[in-house]
Amino acid sequence: MSSALRTRPVGILGTGICLPEKVLTNKDLEKMVDTSDEWIRTRTGIVERRIADPDTPTSVLAEKAARMALKNARIKAEDIGLIIVATVTPDMIFPATACLVQNRLGAISAAAFDLEAGCSGFIYGLVSGAQFVASGVYDYVLVIGAETLSRIVNWEDRNTCVLFGDGAGAVVIGPVPNGYGLLGIDLGSDGSGADLLDVPGGGSLNPATKYTVENKMHFLRMNGNEVFKFAVRIIGDSSIRALMSAGLKKEEIDFLIPHQANIRIIQAAVKRLKLSNDKVYVNLDRYGNTSAASVPIALHEAYEEGLIKKDSIIVLVAFGAGLTWGAAVIRWYE
Ligand code: ACO
Repeated sequence: MSSALRTRPVGILGTGICLPEKVLTNKDLEKMVDTSDEWIRTRTGIVERRIADPDTPTSVLAEKAARMALKNARIKAEDIGLIIVATVTPDMIFPATACLVQNRLGAISAAAFDLEAGCSGFIYGLVSGAQFVASGVYDYVLVIGAETLSRIVNWEDRNTCVLFGDGAGAVVIGPVPNGYGLLGIDLGSDGSGADLLDVPGGGSLNPATKYTVENKMHFLRMNGNEVFKFAVRIIGDSSIRALMSAGLKKEEIDFLIPHQANIRIIQAAVKRLKLSNDKVYVNLDRYGNTSAASVPIALHEAYEEGLIKKDSIIVLVAFGAGLTWGAAVIRWYE
């Protein structure tokens, strides 16, 4: 790990979430595509997911999660130096969704940018934001993972539409006492797997045309089997590398918060890390895969349920489109 992270310890001061009220169950999906509640539960662990109203873009979910995180951290919006929004579903190609959030929060001192690293986006954002706090450039940074995946899912494709949901999670990071906060990290990418998970239309490669719309190129496509194999390997590998960079062993993990994509992927990681199931947070049954929002939503819920306490060693780990992956080891401050 770079010495920059050790200049000033950086930790999470408060968390927040926003989940749309509308629930879409597996039973509802049975009426939309050729699938069954039984197939979805046994192959993924998902039971239901949340779907944002048509007039609610990603920035609104992000703003609400951020307000809760600010309140819990007891930090005012005007004291935030930087806002990072990790998302694959920004409101628009530009401007950055982070700027829309900055304006609505009244975060008058904040720089703002979006970060795109698929489902690993929140961990990339956390590590990026931490550099600014560690170096003393900013005292407080808002890191938000927010998604409206329902807007890019092909609701006629049973291979993908059963997997995803909408939501947002946010954290405020800032200085913490020595020995606490971010202790170790691991980030990585392998662009040779870029075509395993993508939205091919709407960018500079395939700008929006009648052809791209008719050929459903603005929807998410995924090679599920290949992503599955990659995920099973990388969750364990990345967690172990992050622990090593923190000088810790896997036996010292108090709680693992993995990206919530598929229960079978999580179970494989648990086995690899030799963890007991009560040390792993799972909420994908209720929310499905919310991409960049999944880790901060799970972190918030685990904290609110009293599963994370002062001095707990927690590992956040994710994988996603790119391909990308990331893990962060944190000693919880309060
Ligand atoms: N309902 C019923 N049958 C289905 C469904 C469905 N919803 N979806 C697929 N099937 C069928 C397939 O068509 C296939 O049928 P066939 O054998 O007749 O062709 C059969 O079920 C088995 O399909 P598999 O793809 O082999 O099923 P698998 O057990 O691999 O599960 C799944 C598929 C759930 C997608 C799994 O591969 C997976 O979870 N992959 C990882 C996905 C993931 O983590 N994505 C997120 C990445 S993060 C990001 O950045 C967004």
